Amino acid sequence: MINDLWYKNAVIYCLSVETFMDANGDGIGDFQGLMRRLDYLAGLGITAIWLMPFQASPGKDDGYDISDYYNVDPRYGTLGDFVEFTHGAKQRGIRVLIDLVVNHTSDQHPWFQEARRDPASRYRDWYVWSEQKPENADQGMVFPGVQKSTWTYDEAAKAYYFHRFYDCQPDLNTANPHVQAEILKIMGFWIQLGVSGFRMDAVPFIIAKKGADVKKPAEQFDMLRTFREFLQWRQGDSIILAEANVLPETDLDYFGEDGDRMQMMFNFQVNQALFYAFATTDTGPLVKAMEKTRARPQTAQWGLFLRNHDELDLGRLSEKQRQAVFAAFGPDKSMQLYDRGIRRRLAPMLKDSAPHIRMAYSLMFSLPGTPVIRYGDEIAMGDDLSLPERNCARTPMQWSREPNAGFTKHDKPVLPVIAKGPYGYQHVNVAAQRRDPQSMLNWTERLIRMRKEAPEIGWGDFTCLDAGDPGVLAIRYDWRNNAVLIVHNLHSKPVEVEIDPDIGEQGHLLIDIADGDNSEADDRGRHCLLLEPYAYRWFRVGGLDYLLRRTEI
Ligand code: NOJ
Repeated sequence: MINDLWYKNAVIYCLSVETFMDANGDGIGDFQGLMRRLDYLAGLGITAIWLMPFQASPGKDDGYDISDYYNVDPRYGTLGDFVEFTHGAKQRGIRVLIDLVVNHTSDQHPWFQEARRDPASRYRDWYVWSEQKPENADQGMVFPGVQKSTWTYDEAAKAYYFHRFYDCQPDLNTANPHVQAEILKIMGFWIQLGVSGFRMDAVPFIIAKKGADVKKPAEQFDMLRTFREFLQWRQGDSIILAEANVLPETDLDYFGEDGDRMQMMFNFQVNQALFYAFATTDTGPLVKAMEKTRARPQTAQWGLFLRNHDELDLGRLSEKQRQAVFAAFGPDKSMQLYDRGIRRRLAPMLKDSAPHIRMAYSLMFSLPGTPVIRYGDEIAMGDDLSLPERNCARTPMQWSREPNAGFTKHDKPVLPVIAKGPYGYQHVNVAAQRRDPQSMLNWTERLIRMRKEAPEIGWGDFTCLDAGDPGVLAIRYDWRNNAVLIVHNLHSKPVEVEIDPDIGEQGHLLIDIADGDNSEADDRGRHCLLLEPYAYRWFRVGGLDYLLRRTEI
């Protein structure tokens, strides 16, 4: 049954074990701490957790530099703790996705150590080498300004090795069948320990042809099918959510025309156009991005997000559009990163305006795809721009007014807790927001419930309706004789709009699923809506009868 595709209407919560909750008091978050917070997450209503890397790692790129794929970093706990955690999540109906970082390893990984020491080693060809420095060594850096090159000389190997990211992250030679077999083995291992799939890191780079002689980028898409097939054999309902910031023309290469490659991909096109829309109240490019990314096999799904653990990458916008977003949300150089993005969390970007922040989340939750939120979003946490690069938005979760936000009993948390200013834990924390019915936390819980009650978004087709104002976005979803209509006002002022749901008789009555403010059409079948600043209105289309007739297959 198509309803078995759980990821179509999931609500995914991304967290880092390291900064979520410390149970043993050493200043570092751990699995025991996370387990103590599972009831909190279940209460929030999320249906899946995406864990950022937690395997053994020197931690030079926040765990995205793994030195042992088959172990939990001892600072976070043991494999036993991990299994207790996946079991605890399952008992609460929460699935677990984990990061799969296989484009590269840490330079401390024994494979790389052996490869550099011994040219005859079986691991030599697991990495990408060149005796001469390739001509394009100063191109293709992912972290410009911080990373100097993509090829670095290794004294022991007496050769240059390729690294798409930092020099501590040598790229694996993913075309090597032994490397591919190892990737499958890693997936099989974690599947066995209770996960429902993977957020696959840096997918376009994994499948890219690598080597000093590669002049033109070329992808080996077949590899994706190999990963997918393996996973389906081992556990039919497990998925891959691909991190692939690519052009819409290649989306189908990633999903597979027949839906035989990645089940999910993050929609970076929509993400960037969304921020442009917030900055300018022009939803034109957003609607275009939604249209361009519309085509996908029935089983495929987009992952939608506002901010994640990286910078807000604006690289796909035009220069003019990018400057508009910078001017609105990251005017200061200290807020920008890698010449292409903004490194702040959402709440400070939107100047802590609760109506603006809520409209932004409501809009993201109503776009075609599955929403992915990040720990701390639900209480509108801030950032600490004094921390380097992306760490500014990776500070520990703020649980209470207790010292160090109740995150740890240790006086030195792994990253500093935000303790000053309006985003300090004294003002922004879970304990306080639980008690306040109007808080961001309780509002987020209601938003999640509303999204779950509108499965049309995950399953259905969308139509963007003309509201006569580019600052108002009206989307209708249709699925098996059910429809919802969702309207957002991106303006900071009230506006009056007329909308024709364009769905015949059924569109006469719109039932407000948020707060019961229903709307009836006029004689011309149009709805006149008075929208407050940053309003969000979620309507079910059709009268009560219609609701009763709803199909639930
Ligand atoms: C993408 C991850 O999101 C980012 O945090 C990391 O630095 C790179 N991939 C390298 O793994």
